[in-house]
Amino acid sequence: MKAFTNVKDLGDLKVAVQEALEIKKNRFGYKSLGENKTLLMVFFNSSLRTRLSTQKAAINLGMNTMVLDVNQGAWRLETERGVVMDGDKSEHLLEAIPVMGCYCDIIGVRSFARFENKADDYKENILQQFIQYAGRPVFSMEGATTHPLQAFADLITIEEYKTKARPKVVLSWAPHPKALPQAVPNSFADFMNEANVDFVITHPEGYELDPQFVRGAKIEYDQDKAFAGADFIYAKNWSAFADEHYGQILSKDRSWTVDTAKMALTNQAKFMHCLPVRRNMIVTDDVIESPQSIVIPEAANREISCEVVLKRMLESLK
Ligand code: CP
Repeated sequence: MKAFTNVKDLGDLKVAVQEALEIKKNRFGYKSLGENKTLLMVFFNSSLRTRLSTQKAAINLGMNTMVLDVNQGAWRLETERGVVMDGDKSEHLLEAIPVMGCYCDIIGVRSFARFENKADDYKENILQQFIQYAGRPVFSMEGATTHPLQAFADLITIEEYKTKARPKVVLSWAPHPKALPQAVPNSFADFMNEANVDFVITHPEGYELDPQFVRGAKIEYDQDKAFAGADFIYAKNWSAFADEHYGQILSKDRSWTVDTAKMALTNQAKFMHCLPVRRNMIVTDDVIESPQSIVIPEAANREISCEVVLKRMLESLK
């Protein structure tokens, strides 16, 4: 595996999930694979789970790890070609990327949407430059438009907790005080559309996601109807995708907050969220603290999803 940015990069998804479940039983089983290999994690944005779980996955595989927080202690990087660099940016990404590639064997990159220009965000400018110029396998630790390590962990978690062959999985928009990217819901839809689930997306009108990720998913604008009979509720906020409102908050309607009354409409659904989560905006204290909440095992599976990706990348180095 030379790059990981979306579900297709995993090949057969059933095989990938089985590989994850096997690795979870023996997470140090491939420790020799990463001997004398180095993972560089490059962060343009903050992280708790991705930072720790990726590092842990690399340690499981016997790798060394290095972390670069681009905005803390590195030169400020210019990312666009053609810019006269007479401002506060001292180095161009086009030199920085191959230099980073000199010091490591695999690179993970986190670079969120900037919301300045929709086309630029959806081109994944920074991530694609790493893929093109690093000379190393590169994986997304959340890009501008996708978060595949999260969605893979979500699918592993659903596989572990499902009580029927084809569960009903509902992705529900929920309110948030800040404009958030579409990366998590995009990747969740990307993965759910390839999994054996009955997938429904519910959100207020105006929050339609990119059709390339929504594909054949059912859209239900009535959240209560969507929740009926659901086996998994995956709550997440996202900002508007449509050109005229790209990156904007169109609603902070707290009637969309996931509470016990809404969860009572479901088939005793498990509650999921990628975290970090704003309590009593996205979900009430009662729901996230309830036995139905699986947000912690979901986060724990980030180690496993990453270990599969790193293992496959290490195997491709041979
Ligand atoms: N879910 C997730 O990616 O968490 P972090 O932003 O803390 O890494």
